[in-house]
Amino acid sequence: GPTPTLRPRAVLIGPPGSGKSTVARALSLALGVHGRDTDNDVEQRAGKPIREIFVDEGEPHFRELELDAVLTALREHDGVLALGGGAVLDPRAEQGLVEYREAGGLVVFLDVSLAHAAPRVGFNTARPLLLGNPRAQWQALMEARRPIYERVANLRVVTDGLRPGDVAERIREEI
Ligand code: S3P
Repeated sequence: GPTPTLRPRAVLIGPPGSGKSTVARALSLALGVHGRDTDNDVEQRAGKPIREIFVDEGEPHFRELELDAVLTALREHDGVLALGGGAVLDPRAEQGLVEYREAGGLVVFLDVSLAHAAPRVGFNTARPLLLGNPRAQWQALMEARRPIYERVANLRVVTDGLRPGDVAERIREEI
């Protein structure tokens, strides 16, 4: 069977602006374990920022790199893992998360309203999927993905009005 100590203790999922990266940092510090972020893994391997991958190679190529980063991290990483907002869309990623849960891992959906996500995202040009009308795009993404976030997670934390440290503490109680 899987070796629990070789696996991340918590995986954070949720839309852009839900605070996944910041909470992952706070939680990994609190637990004294490594923190990892699949967006960073993809950027490191590609040698360029995500928005450039979208421009140069397109979203499908980004999703391939992302799936590989997610499955590798779920397999190798021991600590706290933050996933990109769309990383749960691939059924193979979802399957990986189901197996991770079955091995005792905690998959946390950071739920957030548009009003609280907006200032975090900044709705600048850094996220290629939110160009054009960022608020409408964000809402469309969230509406389409909410069912996936909800069925993949075994813990949901509504982060509205909470500081990253509070969210981390809430998760720590469940580990
Ligand atoms: C995406 C979210 C981003 C990044 C990419 C695509 C998405 O990550 O992976 O721009 O599809 O929601 P964050 O959720 O960290 O912003």
